[in-house]
Amino acid sequence: SNLSNEILSSKENYGKSNINENKIAIIDYSGPNIAKPIGVGHLRSTIIGQSLANIYEATGYNVLKINHIGDWGTQFGALIHAYETYNDEKEFNKNPIGTLKSLYVKFHEEKKSNPKLEEIARNHFKKLEEKEPYQVNLWKTFRQLSIESFEKIYSQFDVNFDAYLGESFFADKINPTLNLVKEKKLCYNQENSKALVVENLDNLPTFLLQKEDGASLYITRDLAALLYRSQTFKPDSILYVVGNEQSLHFKQLFSLYNKLEKSNINQLAHIGFGLILTDGKKMSTRAGTLIELESLIQKTKEKLKEVLEKKETSLDEESIHKIAIGTIIYNDLSRTRTKDIDFNWKTMLNMENGSSIYLQYTYARISSILRKFNDRFNSLQNNKTNISKENLTNEFEIYNHLLFFNQIIENSRQTNMPNNIANYLESLAQLSNTYYAKTSIKDSSDNLFKLRYNMLKCINQVIQNGLKLLNIHTLDRM
Ligand code: ARG
Repeated sequence: SNLSNEILSSKENYGKSNINENKIAIIDYSGPNIAKPIGVGHLRSTIIGQSLANIYEATGYNVLKINHIGDWGTQFGALIHAYETYNDEKEFNKNPIGTLKSLYVKFHEEKKSNPKLEEIARNHFKKLEEKEPYQVNLWKTFRQLSIESFEKIYSQFDVNFDAYLGESFFADKINPTLNLVKEKKLCYNQENSKALVVENLDNLPTFLLQKEDGASLYITRDLAALLYRSQTFKPDSILYVVGNEQSLHFKQLFSLYNKLEKSNINQLAHIGFGLILTDGKKMSTRAGTLIELESLIQKTKEKLKEVLEKKETSLDEESIHKIAIGTIIYNDLSRTRTKDIDFNWKTMLNMENGSSIYLQYTYARISSILRKFNDRFNSLQNNKTNISKENLTNEFEIYNHLLFFNQIIENSRQTNMPNNIANYLESLAQLSNTYYAKTSIKDSSDNLFKLRYNMLKCINQVIQNGLKLLNIHTLDRM
């Protein structure tokens, strides 16, 4: 059929379109905070953001992938003090990020009995703002080590950014931003302090743009970043892939921004997502339920090996790694983004449906059929096919499904819901599994054999392309 030719000749490009050509989308995702290990919340942002970036690109957008890391704020004054006072170099060299995190905790414990520490920390941060080399160098070290630890995770998940434009990048753009807000009389100066207050903005709760001591806040830096992005890149869309718990922050940010600038941004959106729960409760460091990413990957591999053992298959480490990563990604992207995820190994590793392993397994099975019949197929290459008299209802059903792939992609872009693609791939896998359970490729006439062989190839191409949009790899053998 024509569709089959189209799929087989477009290959990895099947499903892509240029309907959004010449449009720019900025996707702000991951955004971890330096001097802390990346947690599951930032992982969700990373996974969803990377997939949305892939999806936007597939529909023709120019995508700018930005990592707005949390690398600025008064807390780094505290960290500098804690580092010069309590650091254990041996510990630090072994596990820099873990150590920085404990140093920060230690600072807050000490502060309870020694209020002077507040002042000391503030001074360090002030010097950092004034670009004093001692403070700047320490901060740079913390930042660099943190980025290295983030990148270890990113490379395992095949995640990449066009720019790390974190909060510190906007430190010297705070004053012009605040001046603009003041000019438009959208904030007022609190008496006897430097605090800048925004009140009665679109019925939103009051918030600060500047602290009493003159320091900027998260929202101030986000406002500077938004103005910078809109003016520098003239984007059609800006998406912030950040947990639902920041929804008020983004309402305040967008409202204020819209009063400052006549904007050409069509889609300025907070792409929120739910929490990851274990036994119905939020994962937290204090309760000891926070799974750090390295151990999450490790644990997934162990569980995966158990499942494979039951099936009496074993795979090499590299394949196990790929499947484990796919499992973690799919556990996220197959769900409705805005809802919480209850962590459940059974669902994550279900071979029958609802998991990446199910899709990867379907793909590997089709690949093995294709290998098995490759010779016969090649020997028929030049035969003319004539299939008009056959009953092809089942094949039509599958081709009909394949036909809608690019619409599914554009739909999941418009709704910013990667799970539309996941759902689509699952129904495709279900259709094809039912199909070849009742169809004998081997006993098909040459005509039908050719058609069926090509169709399986098409199915696999679409599964592969679809999983790729979710940032998941396929394997030829499993
Ligand atoms: N660092 C922030 C956090 O951990 C997330 C940053 C998201 N991006 C943004 N432009 N606010 O909460």
